Amino acid sequence: MVTGASSGIGRALAQGLAAAGAAVVVAARRRENLERVVEAVELSGAGALAVCADLARPADRRKLIEKSLAWRGGIDVLVNCAGINRRAPAVDLSVDDWQAVLDLDLTVPFLLSQGIGRAMIERARGGSIINIASLCCQATRPRIAAYTAAKGGLAQLTKSLAVEWAQYNIRVNAIAPGYIRTEMTQVLIDDKEFHDWIISRTPAGRWGQPEDLVGPAVLLACEAGAFITGQTIYVDGGFLARL
Ligand SMILES: NC(=O)c1ccc[n+]([C@@H]2O[C@H](COP(=O)([O-])OP(=O)(O)OC[C@H]3O[C@@H](n4cnc5c(N)ncnc54)[C@H](O)[C@@H]3O)[C@@H](O)[C@H]2O)c1
Repeated sequence: MVTGASSGIGRALAQGLAAAGAAVVVAARRRENLERVVEAVELSGAGALAVCADLARPADRRKLIEKSLAWRGGIDVLVNCAGINRRAPAVDLSVDDWQAVLDLDLTVPFLLSQGIGRAMIERARGGSIINIASLCCQATRPRIAAYTAAKGGLAQLTKSLAVEWAQYNIRVNAIAPGYIRTEMTQVLIDDKEFHDWIISRTPAGRWGQPEDLVGPAVLLACEAGAFITGQTIYVDGGFLARL
């Protein structure tokens, strides 16, 4: 199951995991774009189930967990990709914005991992959970305090669940993307100065594409990654390695 699968990184991961042979539950908040992603996923032949769910709503989360578990007898791989950011100077950040980001970027991945993880334990076939984290697990910039707190928490949650669930052969890892061209970063791409700074600051000399995350996700999802757990893997064109 991939959340946030109607756009950006989630869409690329849903299609990439399908191309690698997975039947995919394509979970998205809005119906628009969903059919297109489902069609692309179905082209690879393993099957797709579309579920519309606003993950901020408890009833929608329950529906998503129930439908996805019932579809093919269980979930083997959960990708927590849905996320939001609210940019504001820390002194102006409202408690509502703080809470919305913490809810969607940290509490929702926990609750979906809990629901799907419980079913993985009962089914006793192991599994893989992949959280989409951020460079903000390691470093940050001004105006993204809530996002930084949530993604930092997500990296630690990843370790916590990995340590608890390794005994059930459930691996829990995070992928931390660098700067990737998506809807979320469009505002940064449109800022010419920032856009050029990213290119000069990134050793690979470019923005990432959502497809850059597919290989690492497939590795973490399948047997080739059988001994990898509790890790946050940075996929950033060398951004964090450079002073
Ligand atoms: N683009 C980047 O540079 C970058 C870098 C690091 C991490 N990320 C992370 O990657 C993930 C995907 O982001 P993206 O860049 O593809 O942007 P995006 O805006 O295209 O994707 C975010 C997804 O989350 C979904 N979403 C938001 N609120 C939701 C809700 N209430 N219920 C259900 N779904 C909801 C959106 O519908 C969308 O599909 C996010 O967790 C983001 O923090 C992105």
